[in-house]
Amino acid sequence: MNVILFIHILSATAWIGGSLLLFALGVLLRDKQAQTNVYEHLGPIYGYFESFWLISLLSTGTYMFYHFGIYDVIRYAPDSALGQAMLHKLYAVVPISVLTIIHMHIAFKVHKLSRTRLQNVVMRGSSLLIFVLNIVILWYAIGVRSAL
Ligand code: HEM
Repeated sequence: MNVILFIHILSATAWIGGSLLLFALGVLLRDKQAQTNVYEHLGPIYGYFESFWLISLLSTGTYMFYHFGIYDVIRYAPDSALGQAMLHKLYAVVPISVLTIIHMHIAFKVHKLSRTRLQNVVMRGSSLLIFVLNIVILWYAIGVRSAL
């Protein structure tokens, strides 16, 4: 089980680290041409990189969810500390997964093309939400661990 937890935490560091770096690039890299160049080359690699770690997080997380009996805790004692921490974590994991799919779908569609205003708003809004949700997930992940 330690191996699964190890892979889960390794995936979390890669997934959250990657998203923090790209978020920082979006905010700090003010030169438009440099930004276009970076996204043009880094964008697809980043997309595959992040998808891989998210799938790894979801699968190892689901495995531990059943292995530790957390499914039963949520079913029979949803108000317990463990039940609440896990539920809150899942309330953030579901939207982050949906937002990631939307974000990547648009990113691959408009790669090397100009974006519409709506696509721009959705791309930036989803990045910001993914960033915030990651912090929330990390907080509740610690809650799950402490309650186990
Ligand atoms: C974006 C998705 C996710 C992230 C970033 C994430 C992050 C983390 C982190 C950092 C820990 C270690 C916490 C600590 O040691 O203090 C953890 C533990 C855990 N996660 Fe996740 N997680 C994600 C998705 C999931 C999902 C989908 C599930 C279940 C369906 C899940 C189930 C668990 C469980 C059961 C533990 C506790 C394992 C243990 O401490 O022995 N995680 N998660």
